[in-house]
Amino acid sequence: VPFADLPTPCLLVDLDRLEANAAAMRARALRLGVRLRPHVKTHKVPEIARIQHGGVAGPITVSTLAEARAFAAVGFVDLCWALPLPAGRAAEAVALAEAVDRLVLLVDSPEAVGWIAAAARPGGRRIPVALKVDCGGRRAGVDPAGDEGPAIAARIAEDPRLEWAGLLTHAGHAYACRGPAEVEAVACQERGALLALAARLGRAGLPCPDLSLGSTPTLVHAEDLAGVTEVRPGNYVFFDAFQAAVGSCRIEDCALSVLCTVIGRHPARAALVLDAGALALSLDPGPRHVDPGCGFGAVFDTALAERCGALRIAALSQEHARVEVRGGLPPGAFPLGTRLRIVPNHACLAAACHPVHHAVRAGRVVARWVPVRGW
Ligand SMILES: Cc1ncc(COP(=O)(O)O)c(C=O)c1O
Repeated sequence: VPFADLPTPCLLVDLDRLEANAAAMRARALRLGVRLRPHVKTHKVPEIARIQHGGVAGPITVSTLAEARAFAAVGFVDLCWALPLPAGRAAEAVALAEAVDRLVLLVDSPEAVGWIAAAARPGGRRIPVALKVDCGGRRAGVDPAGDEGPAIAARIAEDPRLEWAGLLTHAGHAYACRGPAEVEAVACQERGALLALAARLGRAGLPCPDLSLGSTPTLVHAEDLAGVTEVRPGNYVFFDAFQAAVGSCRIEDCALSVLCTVIGRHPARAALVLDAGALALSLDPGPRHVDPGCGFGAVFDTALAERCGALRIAALSQEHARVEVRGGLPPGAFPLGTRLRIVPNHACLAAACHPVHHAVRAGRVVARWVPVRGW
């Protein structure tokens, strides 16, 4: 099927670009000597995770139990649920951990250690538990310099129902950086936080089997990962307008786009209306800290080859995008029905808006992939 015939808005995944992004990160992890455990929350599609691992069902990171179950059902049996365990989900998580090869659960509180231990069967499989470390993002995790981390780690290690799995961190604050130099500093901080706490634990007689880190910005720039065992980038397989603006990739590396249609023309106010609103692109504000005029995504022609530099997506409502046309809307330009492709600000959020991913190559849809939904 030529994708030009698809009803809009719809999600397109450029396979050539996706495969190139996947291969580049695979090569990078190999060169840096770390296990690649891509975060599948970016796409929630098992077929894409296989491409990330060169055709096999390798280790993955998940953001929801729904992802863990769906990916496990199609052969992904080495999993890490990289969210501090929510109260009330321990029984389900432990049941799944007993059914797969390995499911690492994450905690940053002594309470969560207790929930997992209580759900584990006495004499059953030991459930692997990792400790989340805050490397500067101030979202989840323990302070690597504080006393709470060693206390929680010791509690995991001494419980016979649990397996001490090590430390995990994510430099979410890399997204506030303005370019590679700042990202490199955050990447050092990300690794430094893990190594510092691991050294303290080691001196206390509790070595860390795994040290896991990663975000797309820090991993595309990290040059030294000595001591780290595992990386968990997610967004890199698509990239997006945000990553291009902060220097993680070139805009022409972006593999995800939303195909849309011009549904309104207003020459008097130099404006177009597209049928891709917040439910097709997400309301992610984009890289405003480096490009205040970025709008809600980068607009391209249908081949994703040429950027429509005069078009700025100024506002989104549920199903409409309002586009400003710099320099005015010439007669005959962008007639009603014109198809355009938008590279979203945040690929993970935009992808999660859509029920189907259309994998495209050379202008044709070559596969339809259905992402996991729910929690
Ligand atoms: C815990 C954790 N690990 C890894 C990632 C992947 O980061 P990125 O999407 O920047 O590659 C995320 C993303 O939010 C995350 O929350």
